[in-house]
Amino acid sequence: MSSLAHILSGVVAAAFEAEGLSTAFGVVRVSDRPDLAQFQCNGALAAAKSAGKNPREVAQAIVVRLKENQDFSRIEIAGPGFINLDITDETLSRYLSETAGDGRWGVPTIISGETIVLDYGGPNIAKPMHVGHLRASIIGDSLRRICLFAGYRTLGDVHLGDWGLPMGQILAELETRYPEWPYFDDAYRGPYPAESPVTMDDLEEIYPAASQACKLDEGRMERARLATRDLQNGRAGYRALWEHFINVSVAGMQANFRALGVHFDLWKGEASVHELIAPMIEDLREKGLARESDGALVVEVGEESDKKEFPPLILTKRDGAVMYGTTDLATIVERVRDYNPFRIIYVVDQRQFLHFEQVFRAARLGGIVSNPETLVHAGFGTMNGPDGKPFKTRVGGVMKLEDLITGGIDKALARLNEAELAADMDEKERQEVARKVAVAALKFADLQNNRLSDYIFDLDRMTSFEGKTGPYLLYQAVRIQSLLRKADLPEGGNSALRDPQKAGISLSSADRPLALLLAEFPDHFDAALRNYTPHILCDYAFRLAQEFSSFYGNCHILSEKNNDVRAGRLALCELTLGRLLLVLDLLGIEIPARM
Ligand code: ARG
Repeated sequence: MSSLAHILSGVVAAAFEAEGLSTAFGVVRVSDRPDLAQFQCNGALAAAKSAGKNPREVAQAIVVRLKENQDFSRIEIAGPGFINLDITDETLSRYLSETAGDGRWGVPTIISGETIVLDYGGPNIAKPMHVGHLRASIIGDSLRRICLFAGYRTLGDVHLGDWGLPMGQILAELETRYPEWPYFDDAYRGPYPAESPVTMDDLEEIYPAASQACKLDEGRMERARLATRDLQNGRAGYRALWEHFINVSVAGMQANFRALGVHFDLWKGEASVHELIAPMIEDLREKGLARESDGALVVEVGEESDKKEFPPLILTKRDGAVMYGTTDLATIVERVRDYNPFRIIYVVDQRQFLHFEQVFRAARLGGIVSNPETLVHAGFGTMNGPDGKPFKTRVGGVMKLEDLITGGIDKALARLNEAELAADMDEKERQEVARKVAVAALKFADLQNNRLSDYIFDLDRMTSFEGKTGPYLLYQAVRIQSLLRKADLPEGGNSALRDPQKAGISLSSADRPLALLLAEFPDHFDAALRNYTPHILCDYAFRLAQEFSSFYGNCHILSEKNNDVRAGRLALCELTLGRLLLVLDLLGIEIPARM
């Protein structure tokens, strides 16, 4: 199964083929003028040249063939040779019945069993998560869900930032403050304390102090560099202390991700691939790709077609410490070895474009990936504050993710009160509904933008129950749910859906637009999957909710006297809800049972 337009394309393509023309001309699209036709095919214009006829003549020949098909209720040639098509209600309702029931709503399953690794989140040890990590997590988790639904095996990896200079900066700062700690005593042999000497709150104070000290004092910076190198080389005390940083940081991250409903399959980080780095560098040397430059080891990744000079990827610095690009390259070695992925998708700030281009080029040069299409950087734009500059707290600091979520929940509670929703709930249930409304607001506000665009964070707007927002969609879904509950349908849903032969879905001009929109779903899913663009699904969900609203306003549903018509309309409610719930799930948005 696929979308209705796709199925009709098959029919029209056969007509072109029968005329001795390429099937590629048969593409049928949903009409961009729904007032004139439901579907259109513009292939006759393109085919005219190879057919040696004028476009209207080609269209005429196609139309004659299409008239034999019972699926169409109206076939017309418009303008220079556009073919406008309407389908019968039977065809439409048969399609809808056939795509109900298996939970895929017409989306075909990819059964290749191929694996997609998604790298998103990317929070850094010892630093609070901020809004940049919010975008990475939300978009990445949605893409994971989309790939999974398509039929791929997916692995979401958080890829912690745990191996760079910040680690050495914190170690140097702690060594300055607490030289007596056993972690800094090279003669110490005993086991290190099991309890972390620092909490996450401590680290949030220590890291900025450490980084500031390095900026002001070159001597301190040098010590931080050495500490980084020694950590990477396995100095026991540093490693033990560093593991404490990881544990306390990860606990905090997990709480944030849990609140957001963002899932990871793998909790690896830059450090996970440490053992792979030396052999990788050796291999790159043998292949003649790694060379010394000013004491550093680099891979030249410039290409002929570059307009300006392309900076080399630095593998190791003069002091031997490895870089961000080195761990990313080694992580590709690891992922290829362990998962043989069809794709590795990096959901990371677009400002890291150059970094990924360097890493990807090095991976291709070094033969680490054989297919250049394996590596994809799905970048995203910046989340800005009302002033159009990167989002900050009121006093100008970095906005912590945790505070953002809490602020969202407070706002959602206020919105629920305003709309007199959730009024009869106990405190616990209302809190849970508020959390779901807040998460829906945050996620939808982020995902509805084209990934690469910047957008302005506006808590007031995104939590509104009106307009193109997450809460609006939740509200619509909950409303359909409760309507269906009241309809008291038989177990397993509507009979009009279960037995299309007998019942079918009866349609009228008031509900046909909704039915047609339902039939579009697979195409939107496909576009979102192929371009890594969840915003396409956001658009679809919003259009669906709006179309449902007009249907709901214009048609009797529960109060409809004619039983066939009533069953048909209830079926449309079920079909709308099914797709809406699926799309929300693909966006990572949970809906409350009631509101
Ligand atoms: N930790 C990085 C940051 O905060 C993001 C990591 C992205 N993933 C990657 N494989 N480089 O900017």
